[in-house]
Amino acid sequence: MGGWAIAVHGGAGVDPNLPMERQEQAKQLLTRCLNLGISALRSDLAAIDVVELVVRELETDPFFNSGRGSALTAKGTVEMEASIMDGPKRRCGAVSGLTTVKNPVSLARLVMDKSPHSYLAFSGAEDFARQQGVELVDNEYFITEENVGMLKLAKEANTILFDYRIPLGSESCSAGVESPLHMNGLPISVYAPETVGCVVVDNQGRCAAATSTGGLMNKMTGRIGDSPLIGAGTYACDLCGVSCTGEGEAIIR
Ligand code: GLY
Repeated sequence: MGGWAIAVHGGAGVDPNLPMERQEQAKQLLTRCLNLGISALRSDLAAIDVVELVVRELETDPFFNSGRGSALTAKGTVEMEASIMDGPKRRCGAVSGLTTVKNPVSLARLVMDKSPHSYLAFSGAEDFARQQGVELVDNEYFITEENVGMLKLAKEANTILFDYRIPLGSESCSAGVESPLHMNGLPISVYAPETVGCVVVDNQGRCAAATSTGGLMNKMTGRIGDSPLIGAGTYACDLCGVSCTGEGEAIIR
């Protein structure tokens, strides 16, 4: 058996002010997804199938910012995006502006496998999803109570939140943290949900990467970040695989 490797992420870093309960939830979900990927690799699944499988799982759970639980636009709607890349042949697929596709990463995979293109967006991507028969749900499925609350906070602070800062009482902070960060005079914490991704090298040395996101909280409708952009949010070749997270505008630059 060759040497396989897998990395899974649900955003960049952990803020020390994040309540322990949220940190534990994040770790549990990431561990579950990591184990799913490890089992698939042990069963000899190809890297491209493993990254899709793992990112689907992350999209389906509302904890992080992708699929269900995606960040909301300034209009309170969801516009999701994702991309996937298969290293050996540098094949890739990407989607943006999805409002009804339950698993955006799988539509990105279909763009790669079943369309003559690399990237489909908005109504064209939704038309393609219907043609391909992928699972569709109402926009409301993606909108969680937590994200409605965070959008409200973002609007009150007149900001676009890429790191989901919320007011937080110091009693909820991790042990040992004396002074929470502040924004607009309020103590804040990073509320965990961020972009998700997975990078894999399989038993045959093939590398693949996938990334999925709802983008930034309170973003303008039509905004496209780094996650669906091959060479920005996602990349894979025969030497490396990359899945980025953080402020898309900075990553694109
Ligand atoms: N990196 C995710 C985004 O900015 O949309």
